Amino acid sequence: MPPRILNPDNPGVLDQAVRAIQSAEAVAVPTETVYGLAANAYSDAGVGQIYQIKGRPQFNPLIVHVADPDDADRLVDLSPEARTLIKAFWPGPLTLVAPLKLGHGISPIVLAGNATLAIRCPDAPVIQALIRQSGAPLAAPSANSSGSLSPTTADHVASSLAEWDGLVLDGGPCRVGLESTIVDVSRRSAVLLRPGGVSVEALEALVGPLESELLSDQPKAPGQLKSHYAPRASLRLNVTHPEPDEAYLAFGPFDGDHHKVVNLSPGGDLVEAATNLFAALNALDNDSERIAVGPIPTDGLGAAINDRLLRAATKKS
Ligand code: TXA
Ligand code: MG
Repeated sequence: MPPRILNPDNPGVLDQAVRAIQSAEAVAVPTETVYGLAANAYSDAGVGQIYQIKGRPQFNPLIVHVADPDDADRLVDLSPEARTLIKAFWPGPLTLVAPLKLGHGISPIVLAGNATLAIRCPDAPVIQALIRQSGAPLAAPSANSSGSLSPTTADHVASSLAEWDGLVLDGGPCRVGLESTIVDVSRRSAVLLRPGGVSVEALEALVGPLESELLSDQPKAPGQLKSHYAPRASLRLNVTHPEPDEAYLAFGPFDGDHHKVVNLSPGGDLVEAATNLFAALNALDNDSERIAVGPIPTDGLGAAINDRLLRAATKKS
């Protein structure tokens, strides 16, 4: 049976999701970044489901979501730098990797052997309500089958996890549309692990220059595996003149005469382009063999957009 897509504003739907979480089942839930596949982070059985449903390699640790910034203090030790970032960006699309506190209670399956925890406080109302009413932090990776594009609508979740007979809460399209930015604050100085919904410029304005470890051979984040965001079609980047048999993913004004064009943002707005990125790739991927992508600036959210496109363009080996 395919997943059931339900509107959490309808009576009884959120209660049903809360009962599922409390019975160690997984629920797909919209966050401001992408849809997550959530389970009780304290429950081995619940979190185990996530790995099974996604077909995710066991060594990948999960992000834990809390409803209130203060809830992070119970789970991790926060440096002054971490507190500065939390004050500025939580709730919102920033994940911090911080040392676990003794007696944290998080399932070892979430941690996958790490002594640190990736934690964030999302601002989207549906996941906020689900965390509060379930009474537990929720572990959630993106709600897609492992290695495919991240879902930004309930329909993306249902088509990526088509064999799963679970519940998808429909909160409409995600506001940010790209995964959270991940910063490791467990070391002497902060390190960027994944560009995302909060721009590097905004982070650096507060804590100074960040080191970056995006392409390590021993990935701390599977987003670091180059082919993580893989569409079926082949992708060609920085193309100003698409070939006739290519679909074109444009950015900014494009008045070329081409048969198939999806424009991420005709006005050249990077925030709008980020919101539209995965939905546009999904749409083109469904009916094109080859996709050409226009040049996209690398400042602000452009860094994260280019990062995802580069990974999507790198074919799985
Ligand atoms: O926006 C997001 O972050 C979304 C929504 C659902 O919150 N979640 C998401 O989760 O993108 P996921 O599992 O697709 O990516 C989380 C990344 C993974 O690359 C994982 O390896 C990394 O975070 N990660 C988790 N725990 C870590 C840790 N202790 N140290 C370093 N990286 C960690
Ligand atoms: Mg993912």
